[in-house]
Amino acid sequence: MKVDFPMPVRPVIQPPPMVEEVLEASEREALKTRIKALMQAQDAVLVAHYYTSADLQDLAEETGGCVSDSLEMARFGHAHPAKTLVVAGVKFMGETAKILNPEKRVVMPDLGADCSLDLACPADDFAAFCDAHPDRVSVVYANTSAAVKARADWVVTSGIAAKIVKHLHRQGHRLLWAPDRHLGAYVQRISGADMLLWQGACVVHEAFKAEALRKLHAEHPGAAVLVHPESPESVIALADVVGSTTQLIDAVRSLPNSEFIVATDNGIFHKMHAAAPGKILLEAPTAGEGATCTSCAHCPWMAMNGLRKLAAVLERGGNEIHIEESIRARARLSIQKMLDFAAAERAGHIQLGD
Ligand code: 13P
Ligand code: SF4
Repeated sequence: MKVDFPMPVRPVIQPPPMVEEVLEASEREALKTRIKALMQAQDAVLVAHYYTSADLQDLAEETGGCVSDSLEMARFGHAHPAKTLVVAGVKFMGETAKILNPEKRVVMPDLGADCSLDLACPADDFAAFCDAHPDRVSVVYANTSAAVKARADWVVTSGIAAKIVKHLHRQGHRLLWAPDRHLGAYVQRISGADMLLWQGACVVHEAFKAEALRKLHAEHPGAAVLVHPESPESVIALADVVGSTTQLIDAVRSLPNSEFIVATDNGIFHKMHAAAPGKILLEAPTAGEGATCTSCAHCPWMAMNGLRKLAAVLERGGNEIHIEESIRARARLSIQKMLDFAAAERAGHIQLGD
């Protein structure tokens, strides 16, 4: 009988203090004008996540870039002809862009913008976990380092995790999953797959509280509850829609409800309001009985991005993502499998049913 690698204990990740950029209107406009000129001169396109500031999201759209979930950020950056990709988000998003586009310059406003999931899954520990279970296919969430992706068989984002795991389960594979225990458990519940779960968590989504959410919903019985699957099982159990950031925005646009309770980073409200003007959006509670909210529905690492830092990077250089070539090439394979799966699924070549 094989000796089991001890199941990872729950890593405790201390998020940095929340420091958000605050700008007067005149400074905002001056910065945007400077950044637009610099981006044009450097043949750069801005790819931003929905959790970044409204200023960055607006700038991305005004300059022909994109604001999206992590799957679409990867797809967009890869398909776009610009020589420089400016990634406003967290480090794994910049690394994914570089893995897919080694010939492009990839820069970020702040290279310290990390993610509690990435930090919770050091590459050496993950490799030991894989080595202890060679019979299992390893599937990692995109919120991981390039080195972890290089060791994994598959990379998935929240928008496609359930589909890929169902597909692998139907092919008869047993899986090893890292690093988000909540997303992993959710995917396991809906797919029925045999999965061993790493024990990381997102500091933002883990803070949502089911009991307080139930109370808020009782006060707003007509509201649809939208939940990102990085949230705890008790919160997901109350959801009308569980999905990636893009899928939650689509739900606000398409559902007939006029009110929504949203359990994900509140940076998403900027896009939700634009997608469905007039609809009422309420934040899912992060403070309930016994709550120890360290993030309060906003990611402190995403908040490290801002217009001042972006202007400085474009003016002075630096903050470029570099990945050792052997790691990059291997990580590319596991990301490419996801992108190919997404393309095949969109083209109707993969039928998953329920
Ligand atoms: P999405 O892929 O749904 O945008 O999620 C990324 C993320 O970091 C959520 O916390
Ligand atoms: Fe990571 Fe959570 Fe921040 Fe997303 S919201 S980047 S999962 S810490």
